[in-house]
Amino acid sequence: DALTKDGYAHYMLKEIHEQPTAVANTIADRLYNDKISKYFIDQATAAILEQVENIHIIACGTSFHAGMVARYWLEAITQIPTQVEIASEYRYRKPVVPKNTLFLTISQSGETADSLAALRFAKTAGYLSTFAVCNVANSSLDRETDVCFLTHAGPEIGVASTKALTTQLAVLALLTLKLAEIKNVDEAIRSNLAKQLRTLPGIINQSLLLNDQIKVIAEQIVRRDNALFLGRGVHYPVALEGALKLKEISYIHAEGYPAGELKHGPLALVDEKMPVIAVCPNDELLEKLESNIEEVRARGGELYVFVDHKSQHGLKDRVNHLIEMEASGTFTSPIVFNVPLQLLSYHVAVLRGTDVDQPRNLAKSVTVE
Ligand code: G6P
Repeated sequence: DALTKDGYAHYMLKEIHEQPTAVANTIADRLYNDKISKYFIDQATAAILEQVENIHIIACGTSFHAGMVARYWLEAITQIPTQVEIASEYRYRKPVVPKNTLFLTISQSGETADSLAALRFAKTAGYLSTFAVCNVANSSLDRETDVCFLTHAGPEIGVASTKALTTQLAVLALLTLKLAEIKNVDEAIRSNLAKQLRTLPGIINQSLLLNDQIKVIAEQIVRRDNALFLGRGVHYPVALEGALKLKEISYIHAEGYPAGELKHGPLALVDEKMPVIAVCPNDELLEKLESNIEEVRARGGELYVFVDHKSQHGLKDRVNHLIEMEASGTFTSPIVFNVPLQLLSYHVAVLRGTDVDQPRNLAKSVTVE
């Protein structure tokens, strides 16, 4: 056991640290000279993508959050209308499938019962084709979907998903880039996105250096019963994922919220006992998020703000903790900002003495409904 953990105290910590390599392996030769290579997509698959007019993404848990990020990318970069839905909801309603809609399942295990049921339904529902992003070759999902993009994260043992998420996002970014090529999106925009993907392993590596700083924050959050995670835009799903990680392994009640929605409820919960963790990169929503942070500060909330180097101005003296990292970029940022949040929930869970790799009541793969 100690051997397979490679000297780490838990699988989860090992898997968090494997992310630079896992992401590098997942991208590898799928990019060639700032373009998507034939190793990512063959001609027959590209021909399907040329017809895509809509995308329906279906997943559960952390994989659902990957889908939410992808929706922001796909619509903003390729203008292809995209919907994302929880598999257990999707499978029991009567979804309308417009012409030339692509069905896309995301799953680490490829064995999640609701995601498979959704795929089986989709096969009868008139979709253009079924695609999947999956970490396990030969899983039910890999076998049943028309096209499968494998993430090369390696086995993920910790119940709380970490490297599966970041590698799923890497594949979804590649898919977005391929669709951007098909849609003739400006070449400069595309090559910038491709460059971001290349720098990703290095930037994830740097974010791991925040470990000691995050341990200090964990010592404060461990005393609390609740936590609120805030983000906007493509970082809203990152906030949801941060909250999910914390509740899964530390059993602290946590909610992720789009920061603009604060006034519609969660602000009532904010007092000096409420840690508020904000994902605050330097993007077009920075000013909006800063004013949300101010709303929390004015009510005495304990603020922990994750920023990239360029978004820290004005915040330094107003928040309890400012954690600076390198992340900016449409593709990079919603991937890299997950890493310190994974470390945060890990350290809180360790301090609480929970079973980090096998949290109570949860399973790695939910193969029954
Ligand atoms: C379980 C796991 C989560 C995972 C979810 C979806 O709840 O504990 O970590 O995100 O299932 O699993 P999948 O294998 O379909 O990605």
